[in-house]
Amino acid sequence: MEKSPGKLGRIVLVPCPAQGHLSPILQLGAVLHSQYGLSITVVHTNFNFPKNQPPPFRFISMPDHLSDEDISSNDFINVMSKLNINCKVPFRDVLGNLVQQAGGEEAGVACVIYDGVMHFPEEVARELGIQSMVFRTLCAGNIRIYKEYPRLVKEGYIPVHESKSLDDVPGLHPLRLKDLPVYKLKGYEGLLRLLEKACETGSSSTIIINTTEALDREALMELQKQHHIPVLAVGPLHKIAPPVSSSLLEEDGNCIRWLDKQAKNSVLYVSIGSIASVDEKELIEMAWGLANSKQPFLWVIRPGSVCGSEWTELLPEGFNESIRERGLIIKWAPQKEVLAHESTGGFWSHCGWNSTLESISEGVPMICTPSFGDQRVNTRYLCHVWKVGIVVENMERKEIDKAVRKLMVGEEGEMVRQRMMELKTRVDCSIKEGGSSDNSLHELVNLIPSV
Ligand code: UDX
Repeated sequence: MEKSPGKLGRIVLVPCPAQGHLSPILQLGAVLHSQYGLSITVVHTNFNFPKNQPPPFRFISMPDHLSDEDISSNDFINVMSKLNINCKVPFRDVLGNLVQQAGGEEAGVACVIYDGVMHFPEEVARELGIQSMVFRTLCAGNIRIYKEYPRLVKEGYIPVHESKSLDDVPGLHPLRLKDLPVYKLKGYEGLLRLLEKACETGSSSTIIINTTEALDREALMELQKQHHIPVLAVGPLHKIAPPVSSSLLEEDGNCIRWLDKQAKNSVLYVSIGSIASVDEKELIEMAWGLANSKQPFLWVIRPGSVCGSEWTELLPEGFNESIRERGLIIKWAPQKEVLAHESTGGFWSHCGWNSTLESISEGVPMICTPSFGDQRVNTRYLCHVWKVGIVVENMERKEIDKAVRKLMVGEEGEMVRQRMMELKTRVDCSIKEGGSSDNSLHELVNLIPSV
């Protein structure tokens, strides 16, 4: 369904400057452009400004006034809090200019769509009389917790006491206290403050989520009860959008040629995403767990993701000899291509929401080792609700070896694989014409005002 030419307008996207947030909002932009003819302008912080600015997008950078210390701290909550303060005035300048330039060839600004961890675009859009919508890159099962935090603090569940960590969270089935993003988080108050703001949708007309009813139906219903504006699940966007090159790091395409030489479903793909890190001890346990399992693997070790080293210097002595040709280590993968490759038979992941969606979309069963934030919630759904993953609780070589064999060559792994294929089919249906995500996309476009 295409909007009539008279209604075509410009959408201003404001991404959160992190890989796991940037990719899905660009995919949304690509869908709105390719299927509905809307023009897309991306207003991005100087911090992490993408080197690739793929068409059809027009990119504009805005000053963010982050200090070198903020950037090197890797403290996501601190950086987000600063951006929310520092970017308001620069964004008002950019948006004001775009509004003034409208006319002739230049489409008018129809709507601002901003990442939910940032609230300044909503404030600016409201001041300039422009409609805004909030975009969330996490699953509804995680987002619905935000509004419950004050109650959980008041009732004494947060901070979580270790002795109670396996208890259910009242009112938030199927989560246990240890699945909450605040579990073991030092300075969790900062996250709660950020999320309190993230709950306030202000004047935004719509909540758009990169998820699907096929995965998140009950949580979406809960979320809709919490909010008085439409909550639209339009994902998984990477399967709907034309390919968008949004990687902030250089992808190593050679791994695809290596995968071409491996047997079908034989390779375990290993990655902890774009932010998580491991310490030296965990790296060594991962290495020996993989080596001892005797299964082929493709392991992304992102430069800087091992504390205290540049890249692979801390891998144990004898590891390379023991794996020979059976394992390949790279710095950054074309992940969606890797997961779609027929040799890839499993994904050992930190369970970020994008990785989760990408794995489900290709029917690749998972080993789940969450690191922080929503990853614990995603793991709970993967292993307990959908039963398409095997959890590794401790980075310990025996546990890793056992889980890898179980998934890749065990009987239980075969059942997990079958369930994952069934889940993939349900997700596929939701993005086909007339499916829930397809319907929500049409609804979304109809909610974008004419210009
Ligand atoms: C962060 C949070 O950690 C995550 O939990 C949240 O859901 C989104 O923001 P990140 O940790 O990077 O994201 O995880 P994830 O959501 O999985 O996103 C990683 C992205 O990087 C995926 O789209 C994946 O395809 C891509 N990637 C990862 C690559 O392209 N190559 C790689 O080698 C590794």
